Amino acid sequence: MDKKIRLDRFLADMGVGTRSQIRDMAKKGRIEVNGVTVRKTDEKIQAGRDIVRWDGEEVAYVKAEYYMLNKPSGVVSATEDNLHETVIDLVMKHPPKIPGGGQSPKRKDLFPVGRLDIDTEGLLLITNDGELAHRLLSPRRHVDKRYFARITGKLPEDARKRFEEGLTLSDGTKLLPAHLEARDGGKENQCPGEVAVTIREGKFHQVKRMFEALGCRVVYLKRLSMGSLVLDESLKPGEYRPLSEKEVEELKTLEKEPTGL
Ligand code: URA
Repeated sequence: MDKKIRLDRFLADMGVGTRSQIRDMAKKGRIEVNGVTVRKTDEKIQAGRDIVRWDGEEVAYVKAEYYMLNKPSGVVSATEDNLHETVIDLVMKHPPKIPGGGQSPKRKDLFPVGRLDIDTEGLLLITNDGELAHRLLSPRRHVDKRYFARITGKLPEDARKRFEEGLTLSDGTKLLPAHLEARDGGKENQCPGEVAVTIREGKFHQVKRMFEALGCRVVYLKRLSMGSLVLDESLKPGEYRPLSEKEVEELKTLEKEPTGL
C-alpha cells in the first residue's frame, strides 16, 4: 500500500529542504501536487501515487535505501555531531543518486544502523529503514558481527575457550559466547596478533573490553560483517555503495536466531 504522509514531511525526507523552507517554497507557488499548485504543505499525500513536483520537476518517492559504508577512522557513527564529521556527512559529500530520477539531491532521513567507535573502521549499514534497523539491533536477535582486530599484549592460552564460554568483563558484565580465531596463520595467543572475533551482542566498546579482560589491548579494529552482510573489500575507507537486491533480501530474511558460533 502507498504511504500517506504529510507533503512537507515527504519533501523533507526526499531532501528538498527543511520543513520551513518547504513551507516558504509552497507560498511562492513552487510546489505542485497532481498538476495543482499547493500553498499549504500540512496536507497528506499518497507517497508513490500522487505526483509531486518541485519547480516543475517530479520528486521521486523512494521508500527505503540501503548503503554499505566502509567507515574510516576519525568519523563518528551518528547523523549529527558538533565536533566531528559524521558518517552521514561523509555520505552526503557525494549524495546517492535517487533511483527513478527526480530532483532529490540530498535526502534527510538516512542514519547508521548501530555504532562503531570513532577509531573503528569497516562495515556500517546506512539506511532509512527503521524497521530493519530495529531487527538488526534487537538484543533478542543476536545478529553475528565479525571483526578483524590487531592486538598487543599476551593472550592467555585459554583465550579461545574463555571466548566460547562467554567472558565476564571487568565491570562484571557476563557476555554471550563469542568466537576467536587467529588471522595471521599463527596462534590466537601470539602477540602482537591479528585475530578475527565474532560477537552476538553490541555492547559499548565490547571487543576492546573483551581483550582488556584478558590483559590485551586492541590497537586496530575493523568490522567485516554483520549478519549476512559482508564488507565489500573493494570499497576504500570512506567509500560507500548501494546494497544489491540480494543483499537487502538476505538481511530482511534473517533467521530468528542466526549464529555462526
Ligand atoms: N567493539 C568495540 O570495542 N568497538 C567497536 O567499534 C565495535 C565493537
